[in-house]
Order: sequence, then C-alpha cells, then structure tokens
Amino acid sequence: FILYVLNGPNLNLLGVREPDIYGHETLADVQALCEAAAEGARVVFRQSNHEGQLVDWIQEARTEADALVINPAAFTHTSVALLDALKALSIPVVECHLSNPAAREAFRHHSYVSLAATGVIAGFGARSYELAVKAALGEARKRAE
Ligand code: DQA
Repeated sequence: FILYVLNGPNLNLLGVREPDIYGHETLADVQALCEAAAEGARVVFRQSNHEGQLVDWIQEARTEADALVINPAAFTHTSVALLDALKALSIPVVECHLSNPAAREAFRHHSYVSLAATGVIAGFGARSYELAVKAALGEARKRAE
C-alpha cells in the first residue's frame, strides 16, 4: 500500500507556531509518527504553502496512492480547488487536524475539504495523524478485500 500524507500552509512551522494550539512536535516528528503508524505501508509525506502544488499532488495521488491523509490547514476553510481535486479521487481520503476547528473561531467551522472526505479526525494534536493514517489504511484494506 502507498499512503500520501499532504500538509498545507504554515505546517512547516509546526513546533514553533502557536505551540499552545498546535503542540511542540515538529513536522519531522509528525512524519516519523505517520511512518510508525503505517505498519509497512509506504508513506509519501509532503508539505506546501502553495494551493496549486497541493492540487498537483492530489492529482498525482489518483494514480499513485491507495489512500490519502490531508491536513489542508487554512485552505480547509477556503479552497474549492482542493475540494474539486479531492472529488476526482476514488481512494479513501481522511481529513486531519491537530486542533479541533469546530471548537475555535467561527471562520474555522466550515470545511470545503470535508465534502470530499471519507472521514475527519481532529483535536488530538500530532496523534490525530497517527489515527488518520490507521483509518485511511484500514479503509483502503477493506476496499481491497
Ligand atoms: C489546522 C486548523 C486550521 O484551521 C488552521 O488554519 C491550520 C491548522 C489544524 O491542524 O488544526 O493551519 O488545520
């Protein structure tokens, strides 16, 4: 199995950026957690601050990945382009957030990405990724049966 884990804007600053909200783990720590949680599946882990780059990677996942985890960061709440790209996938898609956006400012309550997600995991800090990886691979294995 090949699992894509895509990360949106400002997540390169994880660990330094608002640590009371997002925790002290860095994105490299999160990558290591994902690889450990993937139990042998290959993890392709990427981050970009650019919406178009994320669209390109989602399109690539159509043919290259068996499952996809995405933390779209601020694009969660703004991006029809990411939503449309995700709608073109037939693999399981798990939307993942470190914080729980539903418990934060009103502008974080709506997610475009959720409209194309198989499921959403939010609010567990870096552990959200671990749970998301397991959920995405579990769903992909179920579909492969
Ligand atoms: C986030 C939540 C978003 O609202 C925010 O813009 C982020 C990170 C999270 O992981 O909690 O950048 O996706």
